[in-house]
Amino acid sequence: MGAPFPLSRPRRNRINPVIREMLRETDVRPCNLVLPLFLVPGNGVSEPVKSMEGVFRWSCDMVQRPVEEALESGVRSFLLFGIPSYKDDTGSSADDPSEPVQRALEDMRSRYPEAYLVSDVCLCEYTSHGHCGVIRDGVIHNDGTLERLASVALSHARAGAHAVAPSDMMDGRIIAVRKALESHGFPDVAIWSYAAKFASAFYGPFREAAQSAPSFGDRKSHQLPHFNRLEALRDALMDEDEGADLLIVKPAGTSLDVIRDLKDRTMLPIGGYVVSGEHCMLKDAIGAGHMDKSAYLEYHQCVRRAGCSVIITYGATELAREISVQG
Ligand code: PBG
Ligand code: ZN
Repeated sequence: MGAPFPLSRPRRNRINPVIREMLRETDVRPCNLVLPLFLVPGNGVSEPVKSMEGVFRWSCDMVQRPVEEALESGVRSFLLFGIPSYKDDTGSSADDPSEPVQRALEDMRSRYPEAYLVSDVCLCEYTSHGHCGVIRDGVIHNDGTLERLASVALSHARAGAHAVAPSDMMDGRIIAVRKALESHGFPDVAIWSYAAKFASAFYGPFREAAQSAPSFGDRKSHQLPHFNRLEALRDALMDEDEGADLLIVKPAGTSLDVIRDLKDRTMLPIGGYVVSGEHCMLKDAIGAGHMDKSAYLEYHQCVRRAGCSVIITYGATELAREISVQG
C-alpha cells in the first residue's frame, strides 16, 4: 500500500482539476449507452408514461423523434419493448410480424443503418395473464416457454434485430434461442442475456409503462432472490456457457457487487440496466429539489465503475448530451 501518512497524502492526487481529470479511472461515453423504447400500435401516438419523467410510449410512425434525438446525441443503440394489439394465453402477438416491435425493427433497420437494434424477448407484455411464460397446471412451464421464446427471438431477427435480449429468466433459454437463430440462418444475431435479473420492486413503473404486471402471483419462481450473490453468479455464468454474447445485470444500482464479481469471472462484456424504479427514484428526488441534478450522471458513472461496458438507461439521450457539453 506504500508509505503511511505523512509520506502518503492521497489528497495530492486530487488537489486541482487538472490532476483529477488526468487520473480519472471511469468515463461514461455516449456509445456505452442504450436507450429503451416503448412501442404501441396505431398512428400518431406519443403518450407520456406518468410515473417516469421523460419516458413516452410511441407508435412506430412517431418513434423517429426520440431515435433521431438519441443518434444526434451520440447514442446509437436501442432496446425495443412492445405493447401488442392483442393478448392471449401463450402470447401469440409476441411473434406476430405485424406487431409494434417487429414493425419498428424493420423500419429502423432501413432508415437508420448506423443504429444497433436490440429487442427485449419475453412474453409478459403479450400474455393475458402477464406472466413471462406459458402456464400449465397453474405454474409457469419452463420448457414449454422455451419454444415460444425461440420463436419470438426468430421473429425479431427476421425483422432486423442485431441482438435479442431474453429477459424471462427461464432455464435453458439462451441455448434454445442460440440454436433457433443458428438453424434459421441468423448466426450473426447476438444474444444479450438478462443473465442476472433479480425479482425486484424496482420494476414497478416499467410494468405500468408496458402493461405487463402479472394478474396473479409474482415472478419469484424464475427471477433471482436479491439476497443471493452466488446464485446470481451461477445463473449468469451458465448463460455465458450457453452462448450469450453479453450479460445484463439488473437492477444495476442494487447489484454493483454482482457486477464486479461477474466482471472478475466472465470473459463477456457486462451491461447494467438502470431500471424504471431507479430512474424514478433519482428523477423524483432531483425534481423535488432534494438532490442536485448531477446525481443522475453520478449514479451511471458508478455503474460503469463497477464493471459495466454498457448501460441501459431511460436517460441515455440526456446523459449523452450532458457528457458532450462537459467534454
Ligand atoms: C420483461 C422486463 C421487465 C423489465 C425489463 N424486461 C419487467 C419485469 O420483469 O417485470 C424491467 C425494466 C425496468 O423496470 O425498467 N420481463
Ligand atoms: Zn417478462
